[in-house]
Amino acid sequence: MDKHFYITTPIYYVNDVPHIGHAYTTIACDVLSRYKRERGYKVFFLTGTDEHGQKVEKAAQANGETPLELADRVVKRFQSLWDKLDIDHTDFIRTTQERHKKAVEEIFRRIETKGDIYLGEYVDWYCTPCETFWTETQLLDGNCPDCGRKTDKLKEESYFFRMSKYQDALLRHIEENPEFIQPRSRRNEILSFIKEGLRDLSISRTTFNWGIPVPGNDKHVIYVWFDALTNYISALGFPDDPDGNFKDFWPCTAHVIGKDILRFHTVYWPTFLLAAGLPLPEKVFAHGWWTVEGQKMSKSLRNVVEPNMLVDKYGVDAIRYFLMREVPFGLDGDFSHSALVHRINSDLANDLGNLVSRSTAMLNKYFAGVLPESGPVDEIDQTLSQKFADTIPVVDKQMDDLAFNKALQSIWELVSAANKYIDDTAPWALAKDDTQKERLGTVMYNLLEAVRLIALFTTPFMPTTGQNIISILGGDPDAIRDDALFEWGGLQAGTKIDKALPLFPRIEAD
Ligand code: MSP
Repeated sequence: MDKHFYITTPIYYVNDVPHIGHAYTTIACDVLSRYKRERGYKVFFLTGTDEHGQKVEKAAQANGETPLELADRVVKRFQSLWDKLDIDHTDFIRTTQERHKKAVEEIFRRIETKGDIYLGEYVDWYCTPCETFWTETQLLDGNCPDCGRKTDKLKEESYFFRMSKYQDALLRHIEENPEFIQPRSRRNEILSFIKEGLRDLSISRTTFNWGIPVPGNDKHVIYVWFDALTNYISALGFPDDPDGNFKDFWPCTAHVIGKDILRFHTVYWPTFLLAAGLPLPEKVFAHGWWTVEGQKMSKSLRNVVEPNMLVDKYGVDAIRYFLMREVPFGLDGDFSHSALVHRINSDLANDLGNLVSRSTAMLNKYFAGVLPESGPVDEIDQTLSQKFADTIPVVDKQMDDLAFNKALQSIWELVSAANKYIDDTAPWALAKDDTQKERLGTVMYNLLEAVRLIALFTTPFMPTTGQNIISILGGDPDAIRDDALFEWGGLQAGTKIDKALPLFPRIEAD
């Protein structure tokens, strides 16, 4: 049976332009998708944009355009950034698309038919910037407990979802599925929130228009989070499922999100699904937030890190590598130019870059660039290939845990092992002795085979670099989607391998 893997990013609001935080989640999902494809999975990787709601309506008004005009304009910025960051998503969902609207209406109707949606009256405090409702007791000095800004008191006719009815089922699900909320430290936060008691949730608004009308009562538009969360199934083709994607890919393997939107994904979304009689996602993983040079990123501080600029300056692979390597996924991290330059110089230029250039240069010098046969293997060769074999299941597990920084550490242990193999076997000494020609051939074969496997492991993180190396080794960069390719011995003797140009020039600190 085919192995399926479905991963999603949050859908991004179009009232803001993309920044490093958005790029972070999207790159992480791309890395994992690419890795899973290499390991033989059928992957569906979804990203998109969240285009309805009062925030977008207001931002459009302020710009003198319609909400859809604003959305069309900002969506292009997201899409061009994803191209620039080498994001290989399967689909891009926009909540203004007809296919999405159909799915939202259907899930609303299913829950309503079940008797879990009713019309009532709603008094609450609403934080517009966060699109979040708070009860009076949750407010801090009358302000939003998340962002500290002022909230508005609202009283209006509203449809309610009987979320309270699903409190016990949800608690049981979280308790029985320790993998459901990750990292584990975030589970307790959600468990205690649920144990405080779930209220019914207001899921419609009459105070603005920019949204999907409630089926059968178009005075109301559907609450933006009810609308937005449904993207994860509308993109698969729910409810009609014309391509069978819903059948093949739901439930989702992982929703990857930032820690600020965990509650929506682990309380609201699963209760909607329970009520609609649909299976719950396998896991929700909340990553941390980036600060910039020690400060919170904000428009007013003018320190928002613009990913396009970073890519122009340092190159896409260096940025992808840095974001995945620098901070354990799940913890907060700080972005600084000096840390980035340090990583590029030490890990990329020094460790990886030198390995590739030394290996290919020696092959050209000693064998005119034609890969020799591997002769009888010594213990030192055996140790090297064993280390690679042992690392595969380790990296598999680290990737399943979304422990990207650990996976890169494991991969860099391979880079060090290969560099050390050069020092220990000293090919330059073997080259001086004609009787050692066969031994030199074996060493060069093993060394370039190590480089090939390192390229396979690094491709999901740094697609251009990885594919570059594979092309230099005479392999087909598009053909790297087969488990067997991770087995030692994939390189063919006789292959012509050119000398590699430097992959990552060193950067002098400003
Ligand atoms: N539209 C909602 C999500 C709906 S999903 C059904 C939304 N959009 S957002 O554009 O405001 O945020 C998207 C993601 O960006 C969130 O996961 C958030 O955590 C992330 N980040 C925003 N700023 C960030 C940092 N400074 N650092 C890391 N991630 C950050 O929420």
